[in-house]
Amino acid sequence: MKRICGLQCAGTVALLLTVTGEGAAADRLHGRAIAQRWCSECHVVAPGQVRGSDTVPTFAQIGESERFDERSLAAFLATPHHSRMPNLSLTRAEIADLVAYIKAK
Ligand code: HEC
Repeated sequence: MKRICGLQCAGTVALLLTVTGEGAAADRLHGRAIAQRWCSECHVVAPGQVRGSDTVPTFAQIGESERFDERSLAAFLATPHHSRMPNLSLTRAEIADLVAYIKAK
């Protein structure tokens, strides 16, 4: 009887690990890498960053802001519409990673 489970169970466990743990962590790390590369010139993107502009909200502030949930943040990053903030051509995957990183704080 025990044998019936075999491959299928292993597959399910592997899938769960990908969906819950590893996958999410990798996204956030990638988001942080993108943030440090593309956003840190103006935004303070991580605690301890010393350079950045005073007049630009930090990613910690954006993460806590009630104006942005995951959806609206992604929409903001996908739409080029703001004044002083440059238009960054980000892919949907990059946006998802950035949102995961910003909202993880
Ligand atoms: C050249 C400077 C600059 C860069 C680079 C930059 N931003 Fe911004 N960003 C701004 C400024 C300035 C604002 C303030 C809003 C405005 O005046 O348009 C802003 C606002 C924002 C806001 C809205 C905050 C709010 O409360 O309205 C988000 C979200 C944001 N930036 C995310 C990002 C992300 C993510 C990146 C990197 C992919 C990035 N920014 C790169 C200058 C920049």
